[in-house]
Amino acid sequence: MRGAPLALLALAVAMSGCSDGRLSPAAERGRQVYLAHCIACHNTDPAQPGPVGPPVKGSPRELLEAKVLKGSYPPGYAPKRPTKVMVPIPAVAPEIDALTEYLRR
Ligand code: HEC
Repeated sequence: MRGAPLALLALAVAMSGCSDGRLSPAAERGRQVYLAHCIACHNTDPAQPGPVGPPVKGSPRELLEAKVLKGSYPPGYAPKRPTKVMVPIPAVAPEIDALTEYLRR
């Protein structure tokens, strides 16, 4: 959905070094993915509502997989919003575990 998200991501990871020592490597990676792909709509603090998207802190893996990769929800899940504004971002499929780790905290 953006020009070169993976290049941006690589740059962000390269520049981040040890930006936040409190995060595990997986969570730090998830944070970079989140900052690169999600904060156009969600808040930089996942616990807060963003300019467009709802808070996503604590989202379980199956929710992230369904919503981020396919634009759907797990069976029986009650979405925070009835809208369908978010575009699926299948490119982050390899990072779903890292994203889950970051949002879990
Ligand atoms: C284009 C704006 C936009 C982007 C980019 C975006 N989202 Fe969303 N997101 C939304 C909106 C708006 C909703 C509310 C449902 C809807 O309208 O699709 C949402 C809903 C969600 C939900 C479901 C919340 C719930 O419990 O109902 C999750 C999880 C989520 N987003 C995660 C992410 C992640 C992770 C990323 C980055 C990989 C991301 N979103 C990128 C706009 C966006």
